[in-house]
Amino acid sequence: MILLDGKNIASQIKIEIADRVLEIDRSGGKMPHLAAVIVGNDGASETYVAHKVRACKEVGFKSTLVRLDEQVAEEILLEKIDEINNNPDIDGMIVQLPLPPHISEGKVIERIKVEKDVDGFHPVNVGRMFIGQPAYISATPYGIIQLIERYNIETSGKHCVIIGRSNIVGKPMAALMSRKGYPGDCTVTICHSRTRNLDDICRRADILVAALGSAGFVNAEMVKEGAVVIDVGITRTRSAETRSGWKLLGDVKFDEVAPKCSYITPVPGGVGPMTIVSLLANTLKASAREVYG
Ligand code: GUN
Repeated sequence: MILLDGKNIASQIKIEIADRVLEIDRSGGKMPHLAAVIVGNDGASETYVAHKVRACKEVGFKSTLVRLDEQVAEEILLEKIDEINNNPDIDGMIVQLPLPPHISEGKVIERIKVEKDVDGFHPVNVGRMFIGQPAYISATPYGIIQLIERYNIETSGKHCVIIGRSNIVGKPMAALMSRKGYPGDCTVTICHSRTRNLDDICRRADILVAALGSAGFVNAEMVKEGAVVIDVGITRTRSAETRSGWKLLGDVKFDEVAPKCSYITPVPGGVGPMTIVSLLANTLKASAREVYG
């Protein structure tokens, strides 16, 4: 079994990005600049955004953090997005999700300029990704694809089973794994809460992507000998064992599943760190006008 060490690969990619930033600086170019908007004080969102801002610093990007009150009117948030859209110094923007229930996520996502949508959530970016046109690919699927690529994992003709049909992981993963080329050329099955015989389908997977957000859902019985297992789950639970008082749990029962796998991602240290570097990679592309010219 080979551990897919997202932490290590993410560090390598960060070094590559930081080198690129140094070159930009040396040639007198503008530093890539990411704006992150957070509404309210959700603990998990605070942590994610803090990680994103710290990652920007590590590679030499500029970052701007915009904090808005939990009660902020939707219109004020939309105006803030317009302001960032119109700020020529800012290359990319994310609005951390979830948003409070009185704000429409759809409206917010569609307000972000397609060229600055480094989360790849705008329907134009999603649609372009689906039909194989240049687009920002959302960070988690992009991170998984890069991990598969860096470990040279064979994908052609393989059966890839994805558990979870979310817009930000399950659906884009299905599109990417079934596209022509590498990584891709898989036969893809998407499973969800209404899927019948889920265990049987999972057992037929050469590549199993668990992205349903249910801690320890995938057990050894559900995994074929020699499968590649990608665990996207990050359920935060209270823990007396860690300094932070929190522990992250994946969707896979790692201890019993790992011995059966050819490759597996740990949690933490697998997909999570790859997600953040993918956001950095998208921001670099935005600053280089690589996707939209
Ligand atoms: N909430 C959970 N994951 C994400 C993400 O990748 N981007 C944003 N904006 N919000 C999230």
